[in-house]
Amino acid sequence: MHSLFLVFVLVAAVTPIPLSPTPAKAHTVAQSFPGDGFLCALTESYAPKFAQSIPLAESATAARRNLALFRNATLSLNLTHPVRFLDDSRGFLYPVFDQKRCQLGKDANKIIPFLPSNTLGTYFENLFQMIPTWVNGEISLSRFDLFHGHLFANPSTNTVGVVFHSQEYPAENSDTFPFNLGFCQRNSNVTFADDVMRKRNIVWTIDSNDHTSLWRINMAIRTGDNAVDEILGGEPFYTLYEGSLGHVVADLYYLNGLELGVSLY
Ligand SMILES: *[C@@H]1O[C@H](CO)[C@@H](O)[C@H](O)[C@H]1NC(C)=O
Ligand SMILES: *[C@@H]1O[C@H](CO)[C@@H](O)[C@H](O)[C@H]1NC(C)=O
Ligand SMILES: *[C@@H]1O[C@H](CO)[C@@H](O)[C@H](O)[C@H]1NC(C)=O
Repeated sequence: MHSLFLVFVLVAAVTPIPLSPTPAKAHTVAQSFPGDGFLCALTESYAPKFAQSIPLAESATAARRNLALFRNATLSLNLTHPVRFLDDSRGFLYPVFDQKRCQLGKDANKIIPFLPSNTLGTYFENLFQMIPTWVNGEISLSRFDLFHGHLFANPSTNTVGVVFHSQEYPAENSDTFPFNLGFCQRNSNVTFADDVMRKRNIVWTIDSNDHTSLWRINMAIRTGDNAVDEILGGEPFYTLYEGSLGHVVADLYYLNGLELGVSLY
């Protein structure tokens, strides 16, 4: 009896120590995200069924190099090195609306513009500006519609991207959109339309070859590929969640008339 108890104590004391530890391997295996298959389908297919390609102009050599550095820094979740990307000295508070009850940013901290020298601020501002033009005005730059994007880093594909969310605050409507989204929705001039809402997510990516692309996602499509389909759907909001595509690194905010600013997580 006494010796059995002793054996039990010894086993219990030893059990927490793994018999064959594998911590070294864990470091080399990239973390997987539900959206890995979705990103592979985007970057490997010329015309994926669930996305429409928005043509991007060829960037200048210097801009391409900065984007490549930016991809690496984002993948290492490190946006301030090896080049400094952001200009801390010019941080500013994002505007609030409806007697300060509507705060569009993720927190009350200052948002930080990019350093003018790396031209990334201009690059992302241009993306924001080309989206409404490309969709023939179905989306506009405004605090009710397109004003932000989420920067993510996907380690298994070494892809970095931004999920732009448009149609953020459609007006409440008892028939078509009976949802109260809080103070930021008040006075919204965005009329809910399911055929626009389902295409409200725009995804920019820079892949492992530093190739950039921009896509308008149709969330209402079913592809038959489970890895892709689990990212789609979600009516009537049709939100493509950046956290399903990778580590969420920062938010980008852009309202016409203001410089684009970054809010790090
Ligand atoms: C980004 O990282 C990869 C892999 O570590 C490296 O080969 C490449 O040179 C880096 N690119 C830049 C622009 O630093
Ligand atoms: C960011 O990169 C710099 C330079 O490579 C390094 O010194 C620093 O430790 C890195 N920070 C993080 C959080 O990885
Ligand atoms: C909708 O509201 C935004 C923000 O107040 C404004 O900038 C925009 O001009 C309005 N759009 C229309 C079509 O009235």
